[in-house]
Amino acid sequence: MSKVTVMDHPLIRHKIGIIRRKEVGSKDFRQMISEIAMLMCYEATRDLKLQDVEIETPICPTTVKELQGKKLAVVPILRAGLGMVEGMLEMIPAAKVGHIGLYRDPETLKPVEYYCKLPADSSEREVFVVDPMLATGGSAAAAIQMLKDKGVKRIRFMCIIAAPEGVAKMQEEHPDVDVYIGALDDHLNDHGYIVPGLGDAGDRIFGTK
Ligand code: PRP
Ligand code: URA
Repeated sequence: MSKVTVMDHPLIRHKIGIIRRKEVGSKDFRQMISEIAMLMCYEATRDLKLQDVEIETPICPTTVKELQGKKLAVVPILRAGLGMVEGMLEMIPAAKVGHIGLYRDPETLKPVEYYCKLPADSSEREVFVVDPMLATGGSAAAAIQMLKDKGVKRIRFMCIIAAPEGVAKMQEEHPDVDVYIGALDDHLNDHGYIVPGLGDAGDRIFGTK
């Protein structure tokens, strides 16, 4: 079964408390999403593998640690996932970035795919799929299936707010994918919105609606 980690860092909890407020406008919302993504990235990369490399300091040769393997990839689910990319890249500037386009049909709540462009060699990379919201889990599960269909094997999923329904779907459909959550909320309402949540993440990031 996958590992599900709910963040307990006070800075993350504080900033999530701010973005939930309905009076917070796009500029501050975007800024906070980026900062939360950066802090979550730091926490979610604790177990990345390291290898020894021999280097020379100005004083003498020594052995230091560096990240093992190819550079990571960050794959936001469009649109709202885009808001998390900058924060992730603050922590991992050399990461490659792919994009998956999915939107949730407002009637059926089922994900509709419209775009997929991944970095070369994604199958050899550790891939972080990011989206601020995990509601029914339909979008995240479909995005991860798209990656798996393209041969990606090492996948982690990171979201800022999750509903228990979405976490259950991820565990059922992708038990091999570790999930990192900023805050685990109570339930979904009749329209598939997370309660208490923060509303529509895409609209709040981009100022639409
Ligand atoms: C939102 C959100 C997730 C999805 C979560 O995107 O960013 O991708 O809903 O819901 P689910 O877990 O029930 O699938 P939305 O469909 O509103 O598209 P947008 O980002 O383009 O606004
Ligand atoms: N998508 C959002 O942006 N917000 C929710 O609460 C659920 C899905």
